[in-house]
Amino acid sequence: KRIAVFVSGSGSNLQVLLDRSAAGNLGGASVVLVVCDKPQAKAVVRAEEAGVPSLVLIPKEFPDKAAYETRILEELRARQVDFVVLAGYMRLVGPTLLDAYGGRILNLHPSLLPMFPGKDAIGQALEAGVEETGVTVHFVDEGMDTGPVIAQERIKIERNETRETLTAKIQSVEHKLLPRVVADFAAGKIQMGGGRT
Ligand code: GRF
Repeated sequence: KRIAVFVSGSGSNLQVLLDRSAAGNLGGASVVLVVCDKPQAKAVVRAEEAGVPSLVLIPKEFPDKAAYETRILEELRARQVDFVVLAGYMRLVGPTLLDAYGGRILNLHPSLLPMFPGKDAIGQALEAGVEETGVTVHFVDEGMDTGPVIAQERIKIERNETRETLTAKIQSVEHKLLPRVVADFAAGKIQMGGGRT
């Protein structure tokens, strides 16, 4: 299977997927394209260093979201992309991409959804004073972090937890959970609506 990874930032999760893809350790899938909406993102450098093509687009240079996503879709089709992984892509996916890739877009989110959707889920969890949070991988639908959950992992929030320590714990869980789910999805073990098989 051929994967496109969408990113906006550092791309540490992208890096894990690139490494596993290059090592042939991603359920038979390969990362064939990186899509980024921020020209300065470190994720773009990671793609370059891995020799994977990237499509860097500035959304506000397009007349509207449909035009922006149509350009992405052209590239996904040209590269015969089978499915999409959002790994720190800070933008809501619109109907253009959903119509074409519905049920084939996975997102990674740093909370136990449906708790703390949207921006700064780690800050939201600390602010709320909850005893645990976690990481979710889910299918993307038209809502903000609302699609069907595929896998979750819990993380305990200690009494002396800081944003830094919690972020580090979340990242290390993400770096294991995301490639596992991507490999399972690539291998046909998970379907939207069908849960795990
Ligand atoms: C991750 O915490 C992910 O859950 C969230 O954005 C972050 C991306 O981190 N959606 P990175 O760019 O992969 O380092």
